[in-house]
Amino acid sequence: MKKHLYIDGNWVEAGEYRPLYAPYNGELLAEVAYASAAEVELAIAAAERARPVMARMPAHERAAILEKLAASIRDNADTCARLIAQEAAKPLTTAKLEVERTITTYKFAAEEAKRIHGETIPMDAAPGGENRIAYTMRQPLGVVAAITPFNFPMNLVAHKVGPALAAGNTIVLKPAGQTPLTALFLAELLEQAGLPHGALNVVTGSGSVIGDCLVTDARVKAVTFTGSPEVGIAIRNKAGLKKVTLELGSNSALIIDQGVELDDALIARTVTGAFSFAGQVCISLQRIYVHEQLFDAFVRKFVAQTERLVLGDPLDPRTDVSAVIGAKDADRSLAWIAEAEKLGAVVAAGNRRDGGIIHPTVLLHADPASRISCQEAFAPIVMINRVSSVEEAVQQVNNSRYGLQAGIYTNDIRTAFTAAETLEVGGVMINDIPTFRVDHMPYGGVKESGTGREGVKYAVHDLTELKLVCFKK
Ligand code: SIN
Repeated sequence: MKKHLYIDGNWVEAGEYRPLYAPYNGELLAEVAYASAAEVELAIAAAERARPVMARMPAHERAAILEKLAASIRDNADTCARLIAQEAAKPLTTAKLEVERTITTYKFAAEEAKRIHGETIPMDAAPGGENRIAYTMRQPLGVVAAITPFNFPMNLVAHKVGPALAAGNTIVLKPAGQTPLTALFLAELLEQAGLPHGALNVVTGSGSVIGDCLVTDARVKAVTFTGSPEVGIAIRNKAGLKKVTLELGSNSALIIDQGVELDDALIARTVTGAFSFAGQVCISLQRIYVHEQLFDAFVRKFVAQTERLVLGDPLDPRTDVSAVIGAKDADRSLAWIAEAEKLGAVVAAGNRRDGGIIHPTVLLHADPASRISCQEAFAPIVMINRVSSVEEAVQQVNNSRYGLQAGIYTNDIRTAFTAAETLEVGGVMINDIPTFRVDHMPYGGVKESGTGREGVKYAVHDLTELKLVCFKK
């Protein structure tokens, strides 16, 4: 079936289509439009025409559209989950959780639409400010380019589309090449929810062609991107004075302090953090630093729990781990494991491939120079290293180009506070894994993990311009 471009409220036939295959079994899912620069231009022009319509739309109407969207995702939840499972090879149970989170994200966006406000400024606090009354207001930026990744094809689209519409902007959305179907379905649902034509446009195809057009076009006022640091940095370098929000990668870490009880819940949680969606989550648990007193017991329990994971078809509700997104990623995973072994790591589980599935792999004592330690794996591979103190662990965690989220299990409140202060990340989870997110919390990183924050309220802030109005008496 052909999937066209969605421009100005119409399904527009493209000059070129490319096949989309399911990562798990290679099934042909659709022929998807591969937009040319001229077609992207049409999408930007449509978004620009719709700009005054959205900017004038009252907040309660924007909220109502987002509420209707949330309700219609609820009505179509099974279809959405199956689409995600097929195109991303995300196990159905995990895909259903993503759909639930997406509904929440759009509901938060509907609420935020109604509380975008400024403040009054005490002008007379500075000499020369007497006899003036001033207030600020937040206005939409205009056209927003949203470039989204494959790993949460619904909810990470929601984290850009929801806040952008809540704030009264228009959007050109470029979904990941591997997962366009969920985004195109969203366009259908938003149209049914009453979104004006041109307020959302979806262009599928080459990241570099579409990305270049969006990032360099003067009508586009903001770019919000989730993906790799390499692409994020290129976007920032080309974007000039546009606002840019970047949610980039991470090699997220967990510290387990001495004295922590290694109960079943903790073990299950750490295994989920490492292998949920085959580790293809920006905050996936990739590095675990365990106090030497607990190291052997933790490894034994963690490996036993890992070996219980069910591998297979993403559409089978029993599956925990399915294929990684592409054959290249599977090859890369095995190469990284081999490199780690060469540098002295011990394989305690996994290191096997069945088609597109990489068996969840546990590496012990990985060298800090190995890629599994210092780069983002985005694969079902975790390393567990022994440390003699939390200080040493914090140093290891911080020895990274990334800084998205980190976690620490500890019974000592002072250690928890010290870790919170000294871990160089955007979010610290005390007594939990780094792989934790609810959709209204601020979410984003430091270092090469990005700039800006998502979490609906924070994204709305980034997608509006602050204006000052000053009355002279
Ligand atoms: C991400 O991979 O950055 C998103 C993680 C999440 O929303 O849970």
